[in-house]
Order: sequence, then C-alpha cells, then structure tokens
Amino acid sequence: MGEKVRVGIVGLEFGAEFIPIYQQHPDADMYAICQRTRSHLDEIGDAYGVERRYTSYEEMLANPSIDVIHINTPLQHHADHVVAALEAGKHVGCTIPMATSVEDCRRIVEAQRRTGQVYMMMETTVYSREFLFVQDLYRSGKLGKLQFLRASHHQDMTGWPSYWDGMPPMYNATHAISPTLALGGHQAEYVQCLGSGTVFESMKDAYGSPFAIESTHIKFLNRDLGAEVTRHLWAVAREYRESFDAYGAVRSFEWAQTAGGEHIVYLGEQAVPIEVPDFASRLPEPIQRFTRAGVYTDDGESQHRSFVQGGGHGGSHPHLADRLIRSVLGEVDAFPNAVQAANITCAGILSHASALRGGERMYLPDWTLSDLPPFEVALAEDVRPAWRDEVSPLGDTAVETN
Ligand SMILES: NC(=O)c1ccc[n+]([C@@H]2O[C@H](COP(=O)([O-])OP(=O)(O)OC[C@H]3O[C@@H](n4cnc5c(N)ncnc54)[C@H](O)[C@@H]3O)[C@@H](O)[C@H]2O)c1
Repeated sequence: MGEKVRVGIVGLEFGAEFIPIYQQHPDADMYAICQRTRSHLDEIGDAYGVERRYTSYEEMLANPSIDVIHINTPLQHHADHVVAALEAGKHVGCTIPMATSVEDCRRIVEAQRRTGQVYMMMETTVYSREFLFVQDLYRSGKLGKLQFLRASHHQDMTGWPSYWDGMPPMYNATHAISPTLALGGHQAEYVQCLGSGTVFESMKDAYGSPFAIESTHIKFLNRDLGAEVTRHLWAVAREYRESFDAYGAVRSFEWAQTAGGEHIVYLGEQAVPIEVPDFASRLPEPIQRFTRAGVYTDDGESQHRSFVQGGGHGGSHPHLADRLIRSVLGEVDAFPNAVQAANITCAGILSHASALRGGERMYLPDWTLSDLPPFEVALAEDVRPAWRDEVSPLGDTAVETN
C-alpha cells in the first residue's frame, strides 16, 4: 500500500456521494470509479475530476494499485461483487444490505475469513448523529440498564429502480435492525415476524412476498433483552422515517414522529425534547463539513433521493468513509465486520422467512455469531430515587457539539 489508501468506487448513483469525502480525506486517494454506462461514468468523472474510469468491474479489480473497493451496486449484486473483490486481494466496504440470502451472507463471511481482507458493511444508521448520541448516553451509564429497543424504517419506494418492486420489507431492514443490536454490541439469537397487510397485486409475484408491513421481534443472544422492528416499502401512508427508540431503566430515547419534530429523552416520566449534537469533531478536519446535508452541490439538486429523503442519513457518510479507511490502515476494527453484518442482515432475511411461516421462531446460524462480549449496564435497585434527584434529563453527560 502506498502512503494513502487508494479507493475505487463501483456504482455511481448513491456511491457518487462518497467521492468528495474520499478526495478530502487526508489518508485516502480517490483513485478510480466504475459504472456500466460510459456517459454517466464520464459525467461523474468530469464533475469530480477522477481520471481512472472503468465500465467493467472486472477490469477495475485487475488494477493492482487499488487497495479498497467501496461497492454501491444494486443489492442483488452485493455478494458477487464483494466476493470477487476480496478474492482479487482488495479490502471492501459495501453498502447495505450485506446480501439478500442467508447463503450469500455465508459466502461473504467465508471469503473474508479465507482472504483476511477487511470487510465492512457501510451501514449509515450506526454512524448517524442520533446513534452516536444515544450510544454516548448508554455507555456513560445515563440510560441505565437497557430494557427494550424499537426501530422502524418506513419508505415509499415509488420511483426507485424497478428491482425494488415487491421486495420483502425485511430483505432491506438493516437500517432499523442495526442500531438495536449495535447500541450495546448485542447479537440476534432468533427472530419471530408478523407479516401484515397486502402489497400491490402487481408486485406480489416479484419476490413471492404478499405483505405491506413486516414487524419482527428480535431476541438478543444469551440476554433478557430484545427489540421490535417495523418495515415497509409499498402501499402504506407514512412519511419517510428511519428511527430507533432505546428504553433504559433510568433514561429512554424516542425518535421524533415526523421530520420536523423533536427527539425526546425521558428521565423517568419527565419528557424533554432535545437537539442532538453533531459529532463532526471526531473526524479529520477536512471532512468534518460532510456531516451536514447539502454540502455536495450548491443547489443540492444532484443529491441521491435517499440522502434528501433521509435527511442526509444523519451525517453518517464521512464517519463511514473514515472508519473504512482507518480499518484498512489497521488502526481500528471494521464495524460492522463480516460476521456482525451477517447477523444483522440475516436477522432481516430470516424475519421474512418467519413471516411466511406464520411467525415461526427462526434462529440465526452459528457463523453469524462472534465471541465479542456486549457492553452492558446492570439494573440498580436504587434507580428510582436516583433519577428523582437529578435535575437535568441528560445528567452530567458530556456531549460534543460543533
Ligand atoms: N442509506 C444507505 O445506506 C443507502 C442509501 C441509498 C442506497 N443504498 C444502497 O446503495 C445501492 C445502490 O443504490 P442506488 O439507488 O444508487 O442504485 P442504482 O440502481 O440507482 O445505481 C446502481 C449503480 O451501480 C452501477 N452498476 C450496477 N451493476 C454494475 C456492474 N455490474 N458493474 C459496474 N457498475 C454497476 C450502475 O451503473 C449504477 O451506477 C443499493 O444496494 C442500496 O441499498 C444505501
């Protein structure tokens, strides 16, 4: 590897949003881009000044100068593209979900083990400012013992590429599942899912999925703890929302109902609306500005729909890019790594299988489980009097602001 990590990006719709971040990252060299249509490839290459351009993914992988491939191709290609990159000796960051079948997740876990290269699932929600804020609250003891988690991902996929039509909601539920597990470093042991409502007739055959909404319960491995996750893509009236709630014995966090609403921290029964701080100061200075939406263009018109719809994914993109680069440099572990990504993604895939079987309990395979212990806070017997003495809903938790 040279002085800087040489990055190749494949898939230039959502993927294009990461180009300026790598260009500004002090340890990265935004080296090559790849997508199938020459005209769009050149349009993006010219706009950002990237010289090395490929219409063939295989040709990009054959370039020995590239250290890491950031994959942003459609989800049904993730497994093949990840395995090919790992086997070509590249480190990999791949957008969500890890894959769309349990078997494909397994192929990636095995390929990562075999090759020893870095694999990271580029999950935006576990690098959002809300997640980083609640994680700080939890790890500083302010939530107390975790008692329950809840998450949702509501999104109307009208107008998106046709391969989304009829997709089982839980096949792409990592945005909602991952924060519930990642908050305390927990793992899914089994899932039980209810399929509810009816998707459009024209979509039922695409993936054999009849449900408008899937709602799954996740039991955490070896713990008295679990989460509920709700997901829809079609035929449900609801504003876009990627949310998670965390219920602790002392404090809880609930996500705003609407985009303009306020998140709430509860101290006991006291409800306090809060403004979540930004965590840009954790990043190298040149990429700190990318935690704010609207930085890519002056008018914002070229932004990807999910970025606009999702409010910029909570400022997560520069955190993701930085974590991937530092993982490749060996400074930190990738998160979620292959095993963790498989646990998160398979919890969704198996939830859909559970829904099709009327809510049958489905266990996560052993190879999705790691030995890492979770971060846990015990239930204190004197917790009730303690919270009544406190004056601030955030206690003395130090949160970073910019
Ligand atoms: N918040 C998030 O994490 C988030 C948001 C948006 C999209 N995504 C993910 O990003 C991925 C892409 O989504 P999108 O909406 O940009 O998709 P898209 O279909 O609009 O674009 C896909 C891109 O991949 C390229 N591509 C496809 N097959 C290729 C191949 N064989 N070789 C080279 N290039 C190829 C296409 O040319 C195009 O540039 C999806 O998996 C989606 O789940 C994640």
